[in-house]
Amino acid sequence: MYDSERPAPSMKVDLKVESGDAPMYSDAHIVHVEICQRSKSGMKKSVLEEVVKNAVESGTDLKTLLDGDLFEAVESIRFGGVNGDVSNTPPVNSENRIGWQYHVYKVDTSGGQLEDIEEEKEENSVHAAKNWILPSADFEGLWESLVFDAGVKESLLSYVEVTMLLSERGVDPNLVTWNRVVLFHGPPGTGKTSLCQALSHKLCLRLGSRFDYGHLVEINSHSLFSKWFSESGKLVQRMFETIEGLVDDPRALVCVLIDEVESLAAARNRCGNEPSDATRVVNAVLTQLDNIKRLKNVLILTTSNVTGMIDLAFVDRADLKKYIGPPSAEAAYGILRGSALELMKKRIVAHDNICADFKKLAAKSQAAYGQTEKLISIAEKCAGLSGRTLRKLPFLAMVKAGVGSGGSLAAENMQIIPSEVFFGALDSAVDEELADRKKLDK
Ligand SMILES: Nc1ncnc2c1ncn2[C@@H]1O[C@H](COP(=O)(O)OP(=O)(O)OP(=O)(O)O)[C@@H](O)[C@H]1O
Ligand SMILES: [Mg+2]
Repeated sequence: MYDSERPAPSMKVDLKVESGDAPMYSDAHIVHVEICQRSKSGMKKSVLEEVVKNAVESGTDLKTLLDGDLFEAVESIRFGGVNGDVSNTPPVNSENRIGWQYHVYKVDTSGGQLEDIEEEKEENSVHAAKNWILPSADFEGLWESLVFDAGVKESLLSYVEVTMLLSERGVDPNLVTWNRVVLFHGPPGTGKTSLCQALSHKLCLRLGSRFDYGHLVEINSHSLFSKWFSESGKLVQRMFETIEGLVDDPRALVCVLIDEVESLAAARNRCGNEPSDATRVVNAVLTQLDNIKRLKNVLILTTSNVTGMIDLAFVDRADLKKYIGPPSAEAAYGILRGSALELMKKRIVAHDNICADFKKLAAKSQAAYGQTEKLISIAEKCAGLSGRTLRKLPFLAMVKAGVGSGGSLAAENMQIIPSEVFFGALDSAVDEELADRKKLDK
């Protein structure tokens, strides 16, 4: 994959290191063209790639192609830039582009399957994990829907690229150590779990030439504590045996997600000096992680919303520890704008030209149309609210705007909400949320 003719995916080039300064990167980048093929389409991937490539690189109108010749074959096409952002149209301003990279993929529609493990003492099985085949329809579009400050998504993709490069070149891990373990920590509702799911999905489709498919195994930490003492260690062992079975296929990328890793660590701390079932579980997990992280096709993703409580043993193992905080005003703008555009697309809110570039708008170097200024002032008020709360606000705004009163929910009666009414209601929904929070803080 990293042959000399083709630059590595989205890897930045022209790394200039000026003395005493942090490395400077140029804007030159690769544009990733992600082509989601319909599951029923029998077209060969290489043929489809060639057709899209010719169209993109000759400037042919893609919409006509997608509505016409490629209608039966293609579900969607996205263009991913260096910062992890994505659009549905080829980038216009592409002087800095150093190449295109095409990824044709089909999504799996079977969803997350429960992995059950039998307990020995009882005819009882435990839902120890959930396993998705990747790329999965469940996570299509998730990466694009997550909005973080500049650099977050980019650094994640770079981390994995470097990991893959080291493995592929056979770099001796005794000389350059990397653990394939990532820890996301931060307050509740900031998108940590979603980011792990989205990253796993994105990697499987971007690394399509290295892996045929992938798995996301989401471990249910709580389920590992058997009510039978001494059984828990065995449960962990059996669960990892299942994972090893998946890792045995070198054409599969296996992402293991241990969500809320603090629940394991907290259990170990609670038991003080007494070796207990909880200690056994955590030790068993750590030993198993050490075993599988040496394998080339594994990535371990962990999350926690209480950093202070995470076992140091976990923290030490993570190569990348990333704090995911509440969205900045700019990210809040992106999240709310995304929700508003979706409601406009579905003809619930009237169309409005809400501009995209928050920085230019805030600096007044770009004219603001429609309700753009209103949305900027709303986003600025949202400092401290989590992504989870922000995603709920447009819904609350609709309730406030009176949609649904008087039986207007029936589609034929439904009136499109004028955009100024919607954004006015969104503004008061934010005020109400902030006032409620103040009361709870007291
Ligand atoms: N930065 C963000 N951009 C867009 N959506 C977000 C963001 N942060 C959170 N969300 C939305 O909020 C919801 C909750 O996110 P998620 O469960 O990933 O958060 P979390 O950090 O894992 O929370 P917790 O710590 O409580 O487990 C998701 O539906 C997600 O789409
Ligand atoms: Mg979570």
